[in-house]
Amino acid sequence: MSVYLDTLRGRDGERAPVWFMRQAGRYLPEYRHIRERHSFWEMVRTPELAAEVTLQPVARLGVDAAILFQDIMSPLPSMGVEVEFAPGPVLAEPVRDAAAVARLRVPPAEEVAPFAAAAVRLAAAASPVPVIGFAGAPLTLAAYLVEGKGSKDFATFRAFLRSEPPVAEALLTKLADVAIAYLASQVAAGASAVQLFDSWAGLLDRESYARHGAPHLRRIVAAVRELGVPVTYMAIGAGHLLGEVATLGSDAVSVDWRTPLRQARRLLPGKVLQGNLDPAAMLAPRDVLLAEAGRVLTDGQGGPHVFNLGHGMFPGTDPDGVAAVVDLVKGFARRPVAPAGATA
Ligand code: CP3
Repeated sequence: MSVYLDTLRGRDGERAPVWFMRQAGRYLPEYRHIRERHSFWEMVRTPELAAEVTLQPVARLGVDAAILFQDIMSPLPSMGVEVEFAPGPVLAEPVRDAAAVARLRVPPAEEVAPFAAAAVRLAAAASPVPVIGFAGAPLTLAAYLVEGKGSKDFATFRAFLRSEPPVAEALLTKLADVAIAYLASQVAAGASAVQLFDSWAGLLDRESYARHGAPHLRRIVAAVRELGVPVTYMAIGAGHLLGEVATLGSDAVSVDWRTPLRQARRLLPGKVLQGNLDPAAMLAPRDVLLAEAGRVLTDGQGGPHVFNLGHGMFPGTDPDGVAAVVDLVKGFARRPVAPAGATA
């Protein structure tokens, strides 16, 4: 029995489960120790190393779930796209026209980043808690493919969406097909929940998101849920999109720190909520951090809640502060909402 999976299935339990986006990463000395001797791609592509890093935060912090150590870029090389990290993703050649989209491979499932499934298998066999698989959402991956690298506003990508809608659709469809195959391979290997990362969706207006984002997301969510595994959808700066996000079919929605959980609860009826501590609060003095985390726990009541950050952990975060937050969450007695029909 897992408090994380129970909560994702809609149980409003006595305590919130806790894990952190980017919990497997540079803020951990044990991660940096391995990283000194291996490039990021080497770590990602070596199942033994990826599984080890996946489990590091479980051993140190006692979190309730382990997120697979990979990157949203992991499947791109199997599509024929060369990516380097410096430290963010940089593509050898951006994908900006119909010919480049036509050249993208949609490989058979077993050829989509097979090292990721191998890492899930090793991690799941050794993990005391569920392993979360993940993939980048089509819009967010397309943003990197078109732009060629990270960007504050992804203006080239947004102009591309507006000027070449059929080419954009072909690209997004291929990315969704690959995401479905990739996630299925992780589930077959032992991932017991899945998260979709849509980091840049918030840059779009609601109509563009409804047109280019939501349909592909619905297809991915339906395919994964068919495998019997709960799905969490995460987008950043997407408060204006929550009306659409409510219709994607996901079990849970990860909310960033800008949108209060109580407001998200109203806009996302029936959804499990994940979040939403400001990752910057992790850089504040301990008393400030714990007060903020306590506020998130209080706000998260009134329905199932998975405690997490509103976005990924900053590299400068003190692991001891993170451990203190885990203790706080585990000791916080929630007031669960009684199931419909139950009497007090
Ligand atoms: O959450 C975890 O601990 C699991 C592993 C994970 C990584 N990337 C490892 C990583 C996950 C879930 C991701 C997702 C990811 N990657 C996203 C979506 C989530 C988000 O934060 O919005 C995005 C947009 C990327 C792309 C990416 N990869 C960037 C922008 C960077 C560099 C800057 C940064 O934020 O770290 C990476 C590199 C990367 N991915 C590192 C790690 C641990 C750092 C690599 C190093 O050691 O140098």
